Amino acid sequence: MENRKDITNQEELCEMKTREKMEEHDPLTKNSRDSSTPKRPDLFHLHQMTGFDEFECPADLRHKQELFPQWHLPIKMAAIIALITFLYTCLRDVIHPFVMTGAHFFYKIPILVINKVLPVVSITLLALVYLPGIIAAAFQLHNGTKYKRFPDWLNKWMLARKQFGLLSFFFASLHAIYSLSYPMRRSYRYKLLNWAYEQVQQNKEDAWVEHDVWRMEIYVSLGIVALALLALLAVTSIPSVSNSLTWREFHYIQSKLGIFCLLLGTIHALIFAWNKWVDVKQFVWYTPPTFMIAILLPAVVLTCKVILLLPCYRKRIQKIRHGWEDPVKINKAEVAFQL
Ligand code: HEM
Repeated sequence: MENRKDITNQEELCEMKTREKMEEHDPLTKNSRDSSTPKRPDLFHLHQMTGFDEFECPADLRHKQELFPQWHLPIKMAAIIALITFLYTCLRDVIHPFVMTGAHFFYKIPILVINKVLPVVSITLLALVYLPGIIAAAFQLHNGTKYKRFPDWLNKWMLARKQFGLLSFFFASLHAIYSLSYPMRRSYRYKLLNWAYEQVQQNKEDAWVEHDVWRMEIYVSLGIVALALLALLAVTSIPSVSNSLTWREFHYIQSKLGIFCLLLGTIHALIFAWNKWVDVKQFVWYTPPTFMIAILLPAVVLTCKVILLLPCYRKRIQKIRHGWEDPVKINKAEVAFQL
């Protein structure tokens, strides 16, 4: 009997959590929940009552709840981009010197190669946060109304933007830690000694290269600011923080600051590359360097964003989002529908 009561309580708790989760994602039920509705039982109280570990879920209920459904698309995208970039960088930085000169650069894989993969994934995911908004604006401009439904793939993508952003922050944080670990590596210390020896051989007193010093100071500083802004974006996406903001404040941070962060990340990569942009030696086996590939999508997103900010488009989009409908486009669509 006691056992049966326990099972019923477990089921109730699990169903309550599922219901709670569904309510959380359903704006209608979320908004309609007010102080007049009965309060849900205290979790701590239930815990004490049943002695049941809240992280355990009965087997029959397990299949009803999907695991991290909103993370599927962003994680798949991140994994695909990471794998392709990893293979590409290994080919250029490790396999190419091995095949051409027999040099063993396999030691580069754990840190140097990985630290090319991490920023590429991070900046691409960040660009993917803002790309669906641009596609949605293009749809609205094309349809001349906001009342026509977006395609399902775009809806799904729009709903996963928060997860794309959080993953971008995760990869950027790892990239920062990996980057800051560079001088700690033994390979770096040996290289430094070798450079010093070469300098003595060349009878050079000063190794200072002014433009290289400026390049590094600027790109590392921009990287740090970009990471700090990403952290701010991540913090404001926590429900308890976002709930304390007004819609305008939340939108300002997530949209304006996010795009600014993408811009900083792109300038960071541009300045990191510095004069390598015009160096043909960077094209190993006719392949472009990763920094060129990394900024491709962000550059497209930033350019589209600037185009949409032009007064002719901006005013039209604002009107459409306030409910205005383009009579020409609506009539055309109706005629086509009747045909
Ligand atoms: C504390 C923050 C950061 C530091 C210290 C930092 C440092 C670095 C360093 C040292 C490199 C050169 C890597 C190499 O040796 O190949 C680099 C490259 C790069 N970083 Fe950062 N970074 C930071 C934040 C960011 C952020 C927030 C982004 C973008 C969201 C970003 C995007 C890039 C990109 C795209 C490259 C070019 C990678 C390549 O293709 O070679 N970084 N960063």
